[in-house]
Amino acid sequence: MLDISNIEFFEKVETPFWFYDMDLLRSTVEKVVSLAGRYGIDVHYAVKANEEKRILEYVSSMGLGADCVSGNEVSHARDCGFPADRIVFAGVGKSDREIAEALRTGIAAFNCESLQEIYIVNALAARLGIRARVSVRINPGVDAHTHRYITTGTYENKFGISDHEFSRLVTLLRRCDWIDFTGLHFHVGSQITDVENVFSLVCERVNSIVEWFEGQGFPVESINLGGGLGVDYENPDGRPVADFETWFGTVAGKIRRRNGQTLHLEPGRSIVAQCGTLVSRVLYVKVGETKNFLILDAGMNDLVRPALYGAYHKIENLSSRLRPNLPQSQIYDVVGPVCESSDVWGAGRFLPLSVRGDLMAIRSAGAYGQSMSSRYNLRDLAPAVYSDDMHGARLRTEYFQE
Ligand SMILES: Cc1ncc(COP(=O)(O)O)c(C=O)c1O
Repeated sequence: MLDISNIEFFEKVETPFWFYDMDLLRSTVEKVVSLAGRYGIDVHYAVKANEEKRILEYVSSMGLGADCVSGNEVSHARDCGFPADRIVFAGVGKSDREIAEALRTGIAAFNCESLQEIYIVNALAARLGIRARVSVRINPGVDAHTHRYITTGTYENKFGISDHEFSRLVTLLRRCDWIDFTGLHFHVGSQITDVENVFSLVCERVNSIVEWFEGQGFPVESINLGGGLGVDYENPDGRPVADFETWFGTVAGKIRRRNGQTLHLEPGRSIVAQCGTLVSRVLYVKVGETKNFLILDAGMNDLVRPALYGAYHKIENLSSRLRPNLPQSQIYDVVGPVCESSDVWGAGRFLPLSVRGDLMAIRSAGAYGQSMSSRYNLRDLAPAVYSDDMHGARLRTEYFQE
């Protein structure tokens, strides 16, 4: 929850900007660290969710590893304090240059997603004379019951290797002299809310797949279940920290681990979503034929999730909290300034009567927000402002009060 003193300060700041509540980030990561210790789980933060330097520096200082999906993420993670042996590298389309660079960096493991990729990693490792540690990403054929764009573990998806290729996979691994097989990797999707059921099902599949590989003479040292824990977008203040207990407890309880086998999770969204807010202003109130529009100065180039997935984000009028004597509300379509009809923050939202200049908060925007933003329409990238260091905020200079 943003407090009144924050809002009074925001009134002076140039919008849009990303506001990060560092206290909430800290309490979230502390929770993760304590559960990781209790259940003996190794956690790698999924850098793609938010790669802001301050956030990564904090996460690495807490001992979490990094799950990266590009060569640039690997080098950025190194710059932000993650040791090479705490970095894993996933993704279906690693280029030869990215693979070679990661080999030279000495990362903990490649999470390889296809037979051809394994072949290329082996060839590049041989050419460079550097052994490659490889964990194989498996597509377990489990539906995570989440949005189809963030479902990754069914046979329809491009991710991982599915069971029809397992025997060719072990034949290939036996021939790859420069690869050390380290384990198996899974990630069935993101924003999973039915945590206990979905992960129980995943763990059942994982147990039998691990058994199969071990039966083929491939000891599985590490079992990595990826990320996926959902957050409460409807009620960010009610449940600011995601249900890590259920997630960690379920996987630790259901995975049959033999001695020495390590268990890994890769949360992204659940670490950073709730600590981030996109703060924007109402530029114009437009009274339409059938509806009223609030046109904000933040758009889909800043936060693409509503336009891309039809994702819901709670919207609040922050300025209305400074004028509590005006209780009227209105229904608005809240939209952005980008020249696309999908640039809509929320249709039919019930909000306090809003006027030009009002500060609007788009909540739960810390994950897949700033990291997915673009300069579409040649708009500026919104800067970040941190709750524990607001001096860097750019102050508003030009505005016309109606
Ligand atoms: C391989 C892998 N691990 C972890 C994550 C992080 O998932 P989430 O943000 O849902 O925790 C992703 C997200 O796409 C992923 O692809």
